[in-house]
Amino acid sequence: MTDTAVPPRKRLFIRTWGCQMNVYDSGRMADVLAPLGYGPAETPEEADMVILNTCHIREKAAEKVFSDLGRLRVMKEAKAEAGQKMVLAVAGCVAQAEGKEITARAPWVDIVLGPQTYHRLPEMVARASRAAGAQIDTDFPVEQKFDHLPEPAASQGPVAFLTIQEGCDKFCSFCVVPYTRGAEFSRPVAAILAEAKALVAGGAREIALLGQNVNAWHGEAPDGSTWNLTRLLYALAELADLPRIRYTTSHPRDMDEGLIRAHGAIPQLMPFLHLPVQSGSDRVLAAMNRGHKADLFLRICDELREARPDMALSSDFIVGHPGETAEDHAATMKLVERVGFALAYSFKYSQRPGTPAAGQPFQVAEDVKDARLQELQALLRQQQDGFNEDCVGRECEVLFTNPGRHPGQVMGRTPWLQPLHAEAPLSLIGTTARVRVTVRHPNSLRATLLDQKELALA
Ligand code: 5AD
Ligand code: SF4
Repeated sequence: MTDTAVPPRKRLFIRTWGCQMNVYDSGRMADVLAPLGYGPAETPEEADMVILNTCHIREKAAEKVFSDLGRLRVMKEAKAEAGQKMVLAVAGCVAQAEGKEITARAPWVDIVLGPQTYHRLPEMVARASRAAGAQIDTDFPVEQKFDHLPEPAASQGPVAFLTIQEGCDKFCSFCVVPYTRGAEFSRPVAAILAEAKALVAGGAREIALLGQNVNAWHGEAPDGSTWNLTRLLYALAELADLPRIRYTTSHPRDMDEGLIRAHGAIPQLMPFLHLPVQSGSDRVLAAMNRGHKADLFLRICDELREARPDMALSSDFIVGHPGETAEDHAATMKLVERVGFALAYSFKYSQRPGTPAAGQPFQVAEDVKDARLQELQALLRQQQDGFNEDCVGRECEVLFTNPGRHPGQVMGRTPWLQPLHAEAPLSLIGTTARVRVTVRHPNSLRATLLDQKELALA
């Protein structure tokens, strides 16, 4: 063997559950570990370190983590017999909520870390590799993790995520986020703009601003003033080579006039908004502590469509919140009929320990929840299919993101977040182009590229 000074590369496998925020966090964890020599592994078997980045928002998450940990234990032991190491870490919201239980029930886990402590990961890995005994770090720190993380690798590709806000102070009755992600925190303007510029320089043509309560963002500007999300969106719209901007997830309570108007004034702001309403019944919305009525949501939808006529809307729904009656459910169905959603996520209410709704009497029976969910999902599916069908024959702009499954095909996203594929040269990846939609498949669209000649005729 030669003695070239290339350090042995270690391999990292991250399994991510849950929201875009977790996907983003996984990317940041990979970033902080890269300087320690960790590159990506395709499977946990071949990894020197495995991180389970968990989500606690709905039931059974913890059980899934424990069953994964059981399988990983076998792999870890097999590696140990072969004289190799596997560092095992559990991150994310399950780690935050059940850190002690993890170390008790799965002592082969080396590191447990909550969402606020990723910047300590390299130090924890170093300690875990040296010594036995699990490391637990799930405190909400006074200082912010954003201050310590390195700039993210500017290589997220054409579509990039940028977390601008974390946590939530809204305490909806059913939700664990205020307990697992902690109080609302907004990143300062300068850090966000610097990261956005780096992402664009690295090839991003669409940036999605992320936050559990993204439209409650209020960041400190260099001059000491406080900006709101609307102001930030206008500033991002000034960046050259950034044709697309999105933000998610918003709360109806924080959808102010200025933000709604921005949808009409900023062409880069994509005409698609995910705005969870959860229920169409004012009684249930009050029980959920949502702080708004169905009417406010409907008004926001109307105003958004007035500001931007091609606006498509998406939402989250929960059926069977404690106390929900057949009449309340009918109000949700009515709201869905009235709005017409391009996309939606709907869930059966699940009791999350420690949340106010979990202790309420009048829990809804499982079979009633099932029936309500089926009814709601049938309507939402019909609306989604109708929305996609309406796109057939239309022209739109697509951001091409990656090669398609078949040779000669390229995948992309429409302004309304629909996956789309077209026969196109790979060189179009990372650029936007005009297409005409030709076919609706169950979960994607097919389109043909409009060449310059056709464009001139159009
Ligand atoms: N039960 C069911 N759905 C839930 N969600 C959050 N908590 C619960 C729960 N306890 C849903 C909400 C939220 C989405 C991310 O997950 O609809 O908007
Ligand atoms: Fe959870 Fe409500 Fe906060 Fe959304 S607004 S993260 S549902 S507490």
